[in-house]
Amino acid sequence: MATKKLKIGIVGCGAIGSTLAVLLQKKFAKNIKIVALCDIDMKRARLLAGKVKEADAVSLEKLIKASDLVVESASAKVSFEIAQKALYAGKEVLVMSVGGILGKEKRLFDLAEKKKTKIFFPSGAVCGLDGIRALSLSKIKKITLTTMKPPQGLKGASYLLKHNISLDGITGDKVVFQGSAMEAVRAFPQNINVVAVLSLAAKGQVMPRVKIVASRSLKRNVHIIEVDSDAAHLKINCENVPSPDNPRTSYLAILSALAVIAGILDPVKIGA
Ligand SMILES: NC(=O)c1ccc[n+]([C@@H]2O[C@H](COP(=O)([O-])OP(=O)(O)OC[C@H]3O[C@@H](n4cnc5c(N)ncnc54)[C@H](O)[C@@H]3O)[C@@H](O)[C@H]2O)c1
Repeated sequence: MATKKLKIGIVGCGAIGSTLAVLLQKKFAKNIKIVALCDIDMKRARLLAGKVKEADAVSLEKLIKASDLVVESASAKVSFEIAQKALYAGKEVLVMSVGGILGKEKRLFDLAEKKKTKIFFPSGAVCGLDGIRALSLSKIKKITLTTMKPPQGLKGASYLLKHNISLDGITGDKVVFQGSAMEAVRAFPQNINVVAVLSLAAKGQVMPRVKIVASRSLKRNVHIIEVDSDAAHLKINCENVPSPDNPRTSYLAILSALAVIAGILDPVKIGA
């Protein structure tokens, strides 16, 4: 008997959505079917639909109706609303723009429970969330994140424009931001989703502290995470290759979404 394929809809057909769609189709065609694509710029959705067989470019409402799993890879401005609509319709949802959820997550968790469905947050551009989740069952004292990116990985961030911080002509390293996780996701909604994922993994026990550095010498996006707890001291260093389509996004973030979907399909579970 043929197994039922997981029907996936992708909202946001940029660097993550487009590459994810192609990889999903290449690696998991036996188990999944991409049925719907949506983008605020419908040209992008139609362009991707041309590459993904069986997928239609449709409105958000139609996409949610057609899908078992809705992938949000659009923007922190709309991620909460997309997740809420998908959960409300009883669909599973995978959220990439985690910054848009931070502080309001409880409403989505309650809705997922009420509707007996699931919400997934991939590790994105960082590793070590298995350890942080395990430590969250005890006591976490402190989490710090230092993010270092080449200037083009931070270019256009509204915080830099608002505070007249220019990265043109910097020769070494320049600290552009220091603050709490909540302040960081508001200041850099397109650049610092990782700290929102760290906060969720720590179950809100502590508000991570964030430092963002622009570094001329870097070719990669670097995230250094330190976690202090009674059970362990973690130091996690991720040096990520930027996505060829969007220098703000690490290629690892796309692979992490792919790994979450692989985990849904796979009967074997590895790690915390
Ligand atoms: N969790 C993580 O670690 C992580 C890592 C990288 C990026 N992200 C986030 O994932 C999201 C996608 O990243 P990307 O690199 O693909 O960005 P991108 O800019 O390349 O693509 C985003 C796409 O979403 C579309 N879009 C924007 N608003 C929309 C809306 N209201 N409805 C439908 N489509 C909309 C855009 O037109 C674009 O095609 C961003 O919010 C980004 O901050 C998360």
